[in-house]
Amino acid sequence: MDRISGLSDELLLKILMLVPTKVAASISILSKRWEYLWMWLPKLDYDHRDCSKPESKRLQCFLDHNLPLHRAPVIESFRLELDSSRFKPECIKMWVAIAVSHCLRKLEIRYESKSNILPSNMYICKSLVVLKLGGDILLDVPRMVSLPSLKTMKLQSVRFFNEETLQRLLSSCPILEDLVVDLREDDTTRKLTVAVPSLQSLSLYIPKSHEIDGYVIVTPAVKYFKLVDDNYKSHYCLIEHMPNLIEAHLDVSLPDIKSLIGSITSVKRLSICSAAMFDEGFVFNQLEHLELCICKDHSSNQLFRLLKSSLILQELNLYSMEDHFPQYMDYWNEPSTVPECLLSTLQNFSWSFSLYSGEPPDRDIVIYILEHAVHLKTATISSYECEVPKFEMLQELALSSRASTACKLMFE
Ligand SMILES: *[C@@H]1O[C@H](CO)[C@@H](O)[C@H](O)[C@H]1NC(C)=O
Repeated sequence: MDRISGLSDELLLKILMLVPTKVAASISILSKRWEYLWMWLPKLDYDHRDCSKPESKRLQCFLDHNLPLHRAPVIESFRLELDSSRFKPECIKMWVAIAVSHCLRKLEIRYESKSNILPSNMYICKSLVVLKLGGDILLDVPRMVSLPSLKTMKLQSVRFFNEETLQRLLSSCPILEDLVVDLREDDTTRKLTVAVPSLQSLSLYIPKSHEIDGYVIVTPAVKYFKLVDDNYKSHYCLIEHMPNLIEAHLDVSLPDIKSLIGSITSVKRLSICSAAMFDEGFVFNQLEHLELCICKDHSSNQLFRLLKSSLILQELNLYSMEDHFPQYMDYWNEPSTVPECLLSTLQNFSWSFSLYSGEPPDRDIVIYILEHAVHLKTATISSYECEVPKFEMLQELALSSRASTACKLMFE
């Protein structure tokens, strides 16, 4: 400690900022000088989910005593991951209120307790840029709410007080850019509305057995859109067109995807898994990269509808999304006309994750693409060794005719 005590406060504060806050706090408990320095820390980060009881108690006492004396004019970041059996909601509420009063810029809490741990000053915090809440935290948004600087909001499995809660919160964030909402399985929101003109990135998760009537999305500026809707009960999905969309990830059990597809036709990169059949007639006139999950019935027909609709497709990947169960392709009819993108733009084709079975429907799809894709550069086929003897597969596909002589055929 002697050599350290010769260092300036400024330098020691820098050191303190480098060590994890948990360590910083325990150092601070050691001596008065460190305790004093701690008060100037702009980042406070407490992940105490797997702590012993005495350790949690120590932190509780430390924060109760020292946080009210905090001196940093701006707290850049306040992060709490706390075990609800060890830390009381009232304490957390008080700590957050203090952090907010120091021009807080980023608040991140993970906690499970069904209680309201967010103080009312948080809802009118002018400086808050990032808000991330995870776990069973009750969100009861007061009438007076204004978050003029908030750009990023992530609400994962939080509990909304009522139907208006989310909407009221969203309508008070005039420059929100990035929004993640993952509903809880036992959430009671029946009608969900996300209407945020400034939003650039939206990710929405609807759980399987949630009783939902449907949702409305009005986010015309969105560039990235992720929708995972596992809810197979009938519900509406009304989405306004997203003309600036660049990337979309859709994993939906919706019985009708007309509105959904209609809203994303400007997309450039799309990964999709849908049980519902695409309508004929829609056009993706900017889609360059397509990933189709082949875990549903009719994947081969979906594939051909997508190819037909994607006029400038360059890259096609057949794969399976995480935790999905891929199926074999079913039989399909050769399309009456060759999809435009095969004749003009498709460069790369891959069949990933060892999902190629070598059975006739699979094999015929590969052969069809090789036979018709004029500008194909690479075709990459991945299969399990035991399912398709490599040699046979190689021979069968390598001998098939190819529209593009430059095409490299690769096996994995
Ligand atoms: C096609 O694949 C090659 C090699 O993996 C890659 O370098 C190239 O960018 C891909 N082209 C397109 C259009 O995605």
